[in-house]
Amino acid sequence: MGKEITVSGIRPTGALHLGNYVGAMQNYVKMQNEFDCFFFIADWHSLTTHPDTVKLKEQVKRAVAEYIAAGLDPQKVTIYLQSAIPEIAELYLYLGTLTYKGELEKTTTFKEKVRSQPENINAGLLTYPVLMAADILIHRAKKVPVGKDQEQHLEMTRNLAERFNYRYSEFFPMPEAYNFGENLIKIMGLDGNGKMSKSENQLATIYLSDENEWIRKKIMKAKTDSGPVTEFAQKPDYIENLFTLMKLVSSTEVFTKFDTDFQHCRIRYGDMKKQLAEDMISFISPIRSKANEILKDENLLSKILKEGAEKARLSASNTLYEVRHKMGLTYFA
Ligand code: ADP
Ligand code: TRP
Repeated sequence: MGKEITVSGIRPTGALHLGNYVGAMQNYVKMQNEFDCFFFIADWHSLTTHPDTVKLKEQVKRAVAEYIAAGLDPQKVTIYLQSAIPEIAELYLYLGTLTYKGELEKTTTFKEKVRSQPENINAGLLTYPVLMAADILIHRAKKVPVGKDQEQHLEMTRNLAERFNYRYSEFFPMPEAYNFGENLIKIMGLDGNGKMSKSENQLATIYLSDENEWIRKKIMKAKTDSGPVTEFAQKPDYIENLFTLMKLVSSTEVFTKFDTDFQHCRIRYGDMKKQLAEDMISFISPIRSKANEILKDENLLSKILKEGAEKARLSASNTLYEVRHKMGLTYFA
């Protein structure tokens, strides 16, 4: 039996950060041996909010470099640019005819964008989830490693797959959001406001490209409070967030020490942050240096993307061939 198919993508709207790493890339790396993986850079999706294609070029290259630096092996996984696969756009068109305006308008991410960019509520924003469904269904994927914020989009993808299967006969499998062995995760910004994100408060976001001094500065500024007053108290979400980060980068002993200190009301957040900053630096600096090395090698980057696009197009055109047949878009024998 073949390996299960996996698809995921990240929008190149800025440098990648720890939220992307924990929600998505960490899973990509873990999945590359067991699954048939298609990991892409969602440059078409970026245009819905970031139309500047000069910056886009830089960010696309950096994202590919960071994929590799974080541990993805282009020999094992297919890495490509969304815009290199025109078959996705065709499937998007078909899926669009199965999508209702009302359900698109109700999507949380659309409503957020209407609030954050009222001057540019373009049709691409509204149909964002349809394009995402096309990204996933074009390879008939079953697993989609993403952070918690993407769950609603996955639900829409399943709805569209189901509608296609119902109208044109069984074809697409039902894809699901996936986190390797755990629940879906959301990393908050270090200021305790919302999710860590490329475009929000820069000081509350740790980028994979941050220099050591910045990492230290940002972590030392992270939101804390005067500490718990009762034993075994529940952690406020911004404190839980620091522990989640600590679990990612520190040893089990270190994590357990601070966790126990918290449970017994003797935690000193200053010490915890100092330790977290040092462990974060040990975690990020090798990724940063490797990504910077790769970025200098344009030939390598273009070779990776070219080979990836060839493999992705093969899979995409197979799906599209069958989709056209299922739909009856074949006019002569
Ligand atoms: P951003 O929100 O920074 O623009 P994207 O929307 O491109 O990032 O997200 C790319 C991937 O990273 C998605 O799988 C998303 O779920 C994940 N992700 C982004 N931010 C976070 C976060 N703060 N916590 C967990 N996962 C996240
Ligand atoms: N919407 C995703 C995000 O903002 C990015 C994305 C686009 C994606 N297409 C996808 C993720 C397909 C997984 C699968 O993070």
